[in-house]
Amino acid sequence: MRVVLIAVQSLDGFITRHDRPGAGFASAADQAHFRAALPEFDCAVMGRVTFETAHASGPALANPVRRRVVLTRTPGRHAASAVPGALEFTSAGPAEIIAKLRSDGCRACALLGGGQVHRLFLAAGLVDEVWLTVEPRLFGGGTPLLAGPADVALELRSHALLDANTLLLKYAVRR
Ligand SMILES: NC(=O)c1ccc[n+]([C@@H]2O[C@H](COP(=O)([O-])OP(=O)(O)OC[C@H]3O[C@@H](n4cnc5c(N)ncnc54)[C@H](OP(=O)(O)O)[C@@H]3O)[C@@H](O)[C@H]2O)c1
Repeated sequence: MRVVLIAVQSLDGFITRHDRPGAGFASAADQAHFRAALPEFDCAVMGRVTFETAHASGPALANPVRRRVVLTRTPGRHAASAVPGALEFTSAGPAEIIAKLRSDGCRACALLGGGQVHRLFLAAGLVDEVWLTVEPRLFGGGTPLLAGPADVALELRSHALLDANTLLLKYAVRR
């Protein structure tokens, strides 16, 4: 199963503008790219904060991916919202999560953040590709793309302009 980290960031590497939750700074072009990309994934993994932020933003940001796995250290707290096979809350480690999705027949997993979850899966060597939209913004602060140190080498596979100012970079993780 292929695991693809998908994110939009400012030029200086922040996935939120300061302490404002969500990616409200993303251009219309990035939002269109994100919506168009998601249907090619049959599962998605994200952190509890990202899940709740998207949920609070309403149906416009609802994730169309069939099966969603949300990382939390307290899955029991979310038991009432869980839907087996469609929306799961887990405290399992990244390798266990990916192994389970793979054994259930999933073929493509979108890793949807946020910074803590990006770092966890990259550090575990479980990410195959990084699709990064770079918006022409400088924030100087916010949630970083990776919450903590990491050292991951990438190979640029493609680059495209989504509009006059917004760049989409697709990388493979170098093994
Ligand atoms: N621009 C973008 O592309 C983009 C993408 C995604 C998210 N975002 C934004 O980024 C922000 C969220 O990022 P974030 O880094 O603060 O949070 P996050 O990665 O979405 O979630 C962090 C949460 O994940 C759970 N978690 C982390 N490590 C874990 C582990 N080892 N085991 C089990 N659970 C674990 C914990 O949940 P509990 O506290 O429940 O234990 C933790 O609070 C939001 O504002 C979101 O909208 C932006």
